Amino acid sequence: MADLYNRILDSVDYIKKSYTGDIDIALVLGSGLSYLVEQFDNKLELDYKDIPNFHTSQVEGHENRLVIGNFCGKRVLAMKGRFHYYEGYKQEDITYPIRVFKELGIDKILVTNAAGGANKDFKAGDLMIINDHINFSGSNPLIGMNDDRLGPRFPDMTDAYDQDGIRLLRRCADDLGFSIQEGVYMFFSGPSYETPAEVRMAGILGADALGMSTVPEVIVARHSGMRVFGISCITNMGAGISGQKLNHEEVIETTDRVKSKFSSLVKLFIERV
Ligand code: HPA
Repeated sequence: MADLYNRILDSVDYIKKSYTGDIDIALVLGSGLSYLVEQFDNKLELDYKDIPNFHTSQVEGHENRLVIGNFCGKRVLAMKGRFHYYEGYKQEDITYPIRVFKELGIDKILVTNAAGGANKDFKAGDLMIINDHINFSGSNPLIGMNDDRLGPRFPDMTDAYDQDGIRLLRRCADDLGFSIQEGVYMFFSGPSYETPAEVRMAGILGADALGMSTVPEVIVARHSGMRVFGISCITNMGAGISGQKLNHEEVIETTDRVKSKFSSLVKLFIERV
């Protein structure tokens, strides 16, 4: 098989056969959040299965398409459906699309996810600006030989989440008239939800939200020099906090309930970024 860099170039060549313009920002939509793409104008949709070297995701609520379109005054590329570590992919594979985005010339990415709340001041339905993360998966997408064409061997993660972006997200929420949480997202491999003891541990370690995605993508985006912005939708409180049992239906129900708040934030942010 060709090396990673050449595989990326193959994917980019395929995409460029359909689209050659500039793209302002990439958008990764989490569980139950992909409806935003319906509002793109002048859409070009590409199935993952047709893009050389792309994988497909099996999870309910995840479609498998790249969509490029006009949205809030910008040219946006959205990933409808993402890959998860718990599906059995290597973190290197989960993050493959991010490499392709960078090679397409995209230098900004907004990642979103559904997450459990570890911070007891949070409630289901809150939105959280991600200001840092903890990689608790025991792995890292950059393990293996480093290709210096893609990024440095030891990338700095001090400002993994862009400071100007965090300030802009705060201002957007403020101008829209709702309060927003801010905090640390902790990445567990899943697919089982955390135990109450793990949720307590996460809180002690400094996490505010828990989830099964995002961190590999962010590490690779930073490795490749992209500016990263992140929003979690707190769909439920972490196991043991509210006394309720967890299930995927509740996650989808909550993302549905906060649709208008989430979309208005993403839209204003994209317009202003
Ligand atoms: N834990 C991990 N991932 C999640 C959760 C959770 O409580 N809710 C939504 N995604």
